Amino acid sequence: MSSQKASGAAEPADAALFRRVCSRFATGVTVVTTRSADGNPHGLTVNSFTSVSLDPPLVLVSIDARNQVLERFAEGASLAINVLAEDQQEISTRFAATVDDRFGGVRWAPGLLGEPVLDGCIACFECLVDKAVEAGDHIIVIAVVKNMRLADGEPLVFFDSAYRRLRSPD
Ligand SMILES: Cc1cc2nc3c(=O)[nH]c(=O)nc-3n(C[C@H](O)[C@H](O)[C@H](O)COP(=O)(O)O)c2cc1C
Repeated sequence: MSSQKASGAAEPADAALFRRVCSRFATGVTVVTTRSADGNPHGLTVNSFTSVSLDPPLVLVSIDARNQVLERFAEGASLAINVLAEDQQEISTRFAATVDDRFGGVRWAPGLLGEPVLDGCIACFECLVDKAVEAGDHIIVIAVVKNMRLADGEPLVFFDSAYRRLRSPD
């Protein structure tokens, strides 16, 4: 017997509905960072992170094909996927916004591959780009994980187009 809470009536996938339906999938929030040849740090907020393979350890992020940062994600380039903690909503907003210097006032240090590792994250994957695959209006960047970092703390969560916490603040 079908329940009242089942998925509702099926509707054709127009763009607005597609966004809304995707927003029902709760994710963590990451900031993907890299450095250009002149040493300048670059980064953007990304929630399309997924682990792909255990052996070898592969992960992916899906990046809007119009994003300038993609030039830096050629095969062999290093990047860090910084998993944000629940108190880092401001960082998420900053790395998705048009600001002159996204790293201004943000504490970070170079990882073992040179890419920016942000302070205060609950996890970090330091990776080398394996391949970039075109998929519609996005590019799927598949990267092999070389080093990882773990820290205590709760994640920042994104659900229904809003930031959430796993537990309510006391
Ligand atoms: C919570 C959140 C998740 C996001 N996830 C992605 C993503 O997975 N892929 C992507 O290309 N953009 C994503 N964005 C949007 C980018 O962060 C934003 O378009 C980008 O920083 C713009 O950079 P630009 O000004 O350098 O083009 C996300 C934004 C937010 C707030």
